[in-house]
Amino acid sequence: MGGDRCAPRIGLLSQRSMFCFFTLASLLFIISWLSILRSTGRPNFLDSPLLTNSKFLGVFDNGVRNRSNDNVPRKTILVKCGNNKDRLKVYMYDLPPVFHFALLGWKGDGKSVWPDLRTEVPHYPGGLNSQHSIEYYLTLDLLSSEFASNLDGRSAIRVRNSSEADVIFVPFFSCISYNRFSRLNPHQKGTNNNLLQQKLVKYVTAQEEWKKSGGRDHIILAHHPNSLLDARNQLWPSMFILSDFGRYPPNIANVEKDIIAPYKHVIKSYVNDTSDFDSRPTLLFFQGAIYRKDGGIIRQEIYYLLKEEKDVHFSFGTVQKDGIGTATNGMHSSKFCLNIAGDTPSSNRLFDAIASHCVPVIISNEIELPYEDVLDYSEFCIFVRNSDAVKENFLINLVRSISRDEWTRMWTRLQEIEHLFEYQYPSQKGDAVQMIWQAVARKVPAIRLKVHRSNRYSRFQSPAEKHWISFPLPRNFP
Ligand SMILES: *[C@@H]1O[C@H](CO)[C@@H](O)[C@H](O)[C@H]1NC(C)=O
Ligand SMILES: *[C@@H]1O[C@H](CO)[C@@H](O)[C@H](O)[C@H]1NC(C)=O
Ligand SMILES: *[C@@H]1O[C@H](CO)[C@@H](O)[C@H](O)[C@H]1NC(C)=O
Repeated sequence: MGGDRCAPRIGLLSQRSMFCFFTLASLLFIISWLSILRSTGRPNFLDSPLLTNSKFLGVFDNGVRNRSNDNVPRKTILVKCGNNKDRLKVYMYDLPPVFHFALLGWKGDGKSVWPDLRTEVPHYPGGLNSQHSIEYYLTLDLLSSEFASNLDGRSAIRVRNSSEADVIFVPFFSCISYNRFSRLNPHQKGTNNNLLQQKLVKYVTAQEEWKKSGGRDHIILAHHPNSLLDARNQLWPSMFILSDFGRYPPNIANVEKDIIAPYKHVIKSYVNDTSDFDSRPTLLFFQGAIYRKDGGIIRQEIYYLLKEEKDVHFSFGTVQKDGIGTATNGMHSSKFCLNIAGDTPSSNRLFDAIASHCVPVIISNEIELPYEDVLDYSEFCIFVRNSDAVKENFLINLVRSISRDEWTRMWTRLQEIEHLFEYQYPSQKGDAVQMIWQAVARKVPAIRLKVHRSNRYSRFQSPAEKHWISFPLPRNFP
């Protein structure tokens, strides 16, 4: 990965790395300045996720942007400081299978930690489990990077020597552990999910890699809002990959340190979508549960505001209960799809809408969106503040005011970006798996900064302090 050439992993910053860091900071400043200057156009910068900055610099002929060059990639996702073939180097703990593939029912030969993907690829459970299957797809991608004949389009590779790694990956399948092993076993103190988390904390914090960085360069997956509820209080210095921050105190998880990843959509992609504005009869579609707590109130209010509108479809029930088939038909035949915060700010509904090319209308003040640092969601989503959404006629007037042309632009854009949310094995260039590795890569300089800062006084310190570095408590820990 590009940042790797920018700074040595350990030790003093070299002059060259200082130069690269300065260049990167300046470029980011210019990019944000340009983004403010321009308000229209949608360059296809995501077509080449690991852009080089040579193209990028070509835009600055006169210091002012030439608007007819709008098709030139506008933003670099990774600034080139060395060979752009560099990829994120990921060291993965060889956690015993009970933390990962054994949770999927994989038996193995009792000796290998990992399945040999060339002969067998264990399955992840389907249905609503699959929306959090990111843990499975990232792990498969790392494992397969070792035997892939072609590394094109890959943003991360597994390395076996942790000193060479940019980040340390903790392959605990926390979501399937929560979904499948949360039942209380009368003969044990806690559920299997609790026990696994305790074992995980013990294992991870005992590793040399953890002690070296205080866990700051570790990647931990907790995409289900209820997964990792116990271990997160010990593992918080790490980078979490989450669906939102709804159930996290800000000192445990926050947008600076952590990464938001998409849900895997449960509705089928709309392949060869030949629909248009007029052939989608439903104006606005919503399907979801009414929750009594938190977000449920706003869902009910919006329901009462919209229930008389003939071209609005509002149905209560989970996708699972009403059948994925009816939800698919509904979203494929609607112009706009509502995403109203439920008991968490995010849900797979947004990603179902994207896969259906149904323009999302997002009513969720607290929502955090995947890769929003490189993707402008306003190009294909409509955002409505909670306070506006409950005003009489506000929502329906807004949606009716969107012209055929505007809708078609958003619909077209949805088809350009939908692959960014696609989880698959083998992963393809620019899909969700690669976008997440790139999002991790963009955090690496900030991680290095934190690790180096924490090293200032740690090299020659008392053993007691060393211990503290290995088991830090969160800031503002209650
Ligand atoms: C802008 O770019 C176009 C195409 O690259 C070029 O033909 C045109 O002369 C440029 N305009 C200015 C003002 O530089
Ligand atoms: C791991 O990498 C470091 C730094 O490149 C090197 O010094 C060390 O010898 C390597 N260890 C092994 C076991 O190859
Ligand atoms: C979509 O269109 C392509 C090319 O026309 C065709 O090969 C493919 O089978 C179609 N897929 C579906 C699901 O209709």
